[in-house]
Amino acid sequence: MLAPMEGVVDAQMRTVLTHIGGYDRCVTEFVRVTEQLIPDHVFFRYSAELHEGGLTPSGTPVFVQLLGGSSKYMGLNAARLAKLEPPGIDINFGCPSKTVNKSDGGSVLLREPRRVGDIVKAVRDAVDPAIPVTAKIRLGFSNSDLLHEVVEQVVTAGANELAIHARTKEDRYKPPAYWSLVKGISDTVDIPLTINGEIWSVNDARRALSESGCSDLMLGRGALSFPDLARQIQRQGSAELGWLEVLSIVASYLRNSNPKHPLFVSGRAKQWLGFLQMHYPQAGCLFHKIKRLKEAGAIFQAFDVEFDGR
Ligand SMILES: Cc1cc2nc3c(=O)[nH]c(=O)nc-3n(C[C@H](O)[C@H](O)[C@H](O)COP(=O)(O)O)c2cc1C
Repeated sequence: MLAPMEGVVDAQMRTVLTHIGGYDRCVTEFVRVTEQLIPDHVFFRYSAELHEGGLTPSGTPVFVQLLGGSSKYMGLNAARLAKLEPPGIDINFGCPSKTVNKSDGGSVLLREPRRVGDIVKAVRDAVDPAIPVTAKIRLGFSNSDLLHEVVEQVVTAGANELAIHARTKEDRYKPPAYWSLVKGISDTVDIPLTINGEIWSVNDARRALSESGCSDLMLGRGALSFPDLARQIQRQGSAELGWLEVLSIVASYLRNSNPKHPLFVSGRAKQWLGFLQMHYPQAGCLFHKIKRLKEAGAIFQAFDVEFDGR
């Protein structure tokens, strides 16, 4: 699975990464649920794929992720979303952001397992049983003491699947991820479990699966630093994408995006090159060449120079 990443993995990113291959599912950036009913156009903004049966152009299902602390409004909004027929609905219990946590959403809920259960149940009960409802959690807020309780609540509430980002909220995104802490759960839970966190290579993927005992993988930043990673995991031994192939994928992402603001192209170009430099040193050089550029035209010109090998 391709992890949800706010401000990074939008519909166009899902299009290009699922076109490369190796993904069975994507999840949208989180849609924030407050005490209001969300209009359809907001759901379409997060998942343009809802116009196409909830699938990317390569046919990969895209689950829509909801985040909020009110079980009532999570249920009401899940029912509205369900009318748009998403392939599935995911619930975010992992976001570490201060703003989100202050407004009673994301990882702060992991301190109250009963509320996690209530939210999952409200969403599960609000939508047709044919629509899978999944949850995404971290190991806990400050520590993993409540992990088993949270998982039990998620399962009892009727979630179809659970993804675990193997760090606490306080760990944020700092390595390592504690895959083996999930092992005690995977031995006792009978819904599919997905392991997430710090998977940057085929070898990491193999270790994460065996150490956690999970059946599935979710790739976050690794998918951006090595766009071929999911395909390599599924079909090991296939030729890796070369630097210029990757660069043309980045260019196609930028050209086909619907810029949301004037700095969109330069911001996203720098962001993706920043991730790519871990796997492709050439990306680091190009990043330095464009780091002061703001105009989209200037960015594309720098890309053309790179393609020409000048
Ligand atoms: C920039 C960024 C945005 C993220 N946005 C979301 C989000 O909207 N919903 C969510 O459940 N997780 C979100 N995450 C967490 C990722 O889905 C994933 O759990 C995390 O990055 C760990 O995986 P990784 O080590 O493979 O990157 C985000 C992470 C990053 C770095």
